[in-house]
Amino acid sequence: MINDRTKVKDILESDKTGYSVTVKGWVRTFRSNRFIALNDGSSQYNLQAVVDFEKYDPALLRRITTGAAISIHGEIVASRGAGQRVELQVQSLEVLGDCDPEKYPLQPKKHSLEFLREIAHLRFRTNTFGAVFRIRHALAFAIHQFFNKRGFVYLHSPVITASDAEGAGEMFRVTTLDLNDVPKTTDGQIDYKLDFFGRPTNLTVSGQLEAELGALALGDVYTFGPTFRAENSNTPRHLAEFWMIEPEMAFYDLEDNMNLAEQMLKYLITYLLKHNADDLDFLEKRLLDEEKQKPQQERSDMSLMEKLTFCCEQPFERITYTEAIDILLQSSALKKKKFQYPVAWGVDLQSEHERYLVEKHFKKPVIITGYPKEIKAFYMRQNTDDKTVAAMDILFPGIGEIIGGSQREERYEKLVQRMEEMHIPAKEMFWYLDTRRFGSCPHAGYGLGFERMMMFVTGMSNIRDVIPFPRTPKNAEF
Ligand code: 4AD
Ligand code: MG
Repeated sequence: MINDRTKVKDILESDKTGYSVTVKGWVRTFRSNRFIALNDGSSQYNLQAVVDFEKYDPALLRRITTGAAISIHGEIVASRGAGQRVELQVQSLEVLGDCDPEKYPLQPKKHSLEFLREIAHLRFRTNTFGAVFRIRHALAFAIHQFFNKRGFVYLHSPVITASDAEGAGEMFRVTTLDLNDVPKTTDGQIDYKLDFFGRPTNLTVSGQLEAELGALALGDVYTFGPTFRAENSNTPRHLAEFWMIEPEMAFYDLEDNMNLAEQMLKYLITYLLKHNADDLDFLEKRLLDEEKQKPQQERSDMSLMEKLTFCCEQPFERITYTEAIDILLQSSALKKKKFQYPVAWGVDLQSEHERYLVEKHFKKPVIITGYPKEIKAFYMRQNTDDKTVAAMDILFPGIGEIIGGSQREERYEKLVQRMEEMHIPAKEMFWYLDTRRFGSCPHAGYGLGFERMMMFVTGMSNIRDVIPFPRTPKNAEF
């Protein structure tokens, strides 16, 4: 044994009684000077510890307050009360860390998510965030399991890079130059030769380009790491720092890419339904409560669990961008002027359009392929129509885009030409182009936004509530 404590989850999952344990955790409530609801983070449920108060010093009992850390030794017995099968009969009790109830911000009542965001350092201690972060762990684990089972190699792409993988210019600069005294060259430019890396560097926006290098030798690889975007989007679906899973597969075409992505999403959801039922159940009830505050027409017609199961059972709809635009042009939403942004062939689909297609038109996940090349990144494979590229976006109900990917342009000349057109510095990216010069092959990949997936599986409607410490414009607290 490594440590002498038994986890609450293990006690609750077993029917066994009549054995001694030491449990350690935080007090959720202390009722009638007798019943302690103890939570140690291992489970959604609390362990009820029963204190024979006559045997204890009242001064000690007064220290058992919401939030206090305590250690209890006692016996697990069958519970006489309703609500739990077993409970802990306290034999000895120690307060490890007091918690002043006058000053503790978390009271045993419902707090708003906005308030909890302000105390993100303590919100792990709530039922909601306990569930969310246990699910976050399980989801990460399931992702590794999915790829490991299929022989993928987990590749660590760099966090600091000198390139812009998406070519969108949304990067955070990394520098050790003194911002109050920036060295300049004779022609007045910043002298990056004097910077730490001797050149301009930034936090990565995507590990894809490095993953491609790996795939063209290892076959199937994936990255899973933090990515950074300095886009000033203050929306419930955007973070400046988010985690992305980017598989990249040699000898895959777009069709294979879609098949893998669909299979992966279904695998992940199925995994959580099987392994995190308690937490999902709690979040489902939380959502139902929240929905009761909304007008009838805004409530969803499926519960969280129904929605998750439904997505696993349905084949995703697969349509082209051109078909998507036609559907939108003919939609009643367009006719009733419900869209804020214009619809025409060539425009980028906005969240409102994506959600219309998924939630109103098809009522299931949709994969859109063949986007106009002007609105997609330089590395996507050009189609023979000279107008579109072999891109794919996967759209999910309530979320919009959850995955973006493509077959890659493996033809050296076509890639160089596209990079020139899009002002991507080909010379500096010789290493990327080398893969196309030496044993190039068809390959494809995609990026799953980890927090977007988290939003879908937890039903949380703000992305700030599915990552421990969100980074958004003007906010880097904790
Ligand atoms: O569509 P994106 O920008 O694609 C890429 O980065 C490619 N390099 C992926 C690849 O082909 N390997 O981003 C991929 C996904 C999006 O579909 C979305 O789920 C998520 O990453 N994402 C964000 N999530 C949270 N906050 C943001 N600011 C995000 N930007 C993208
Ligand atoms: Mg995208």
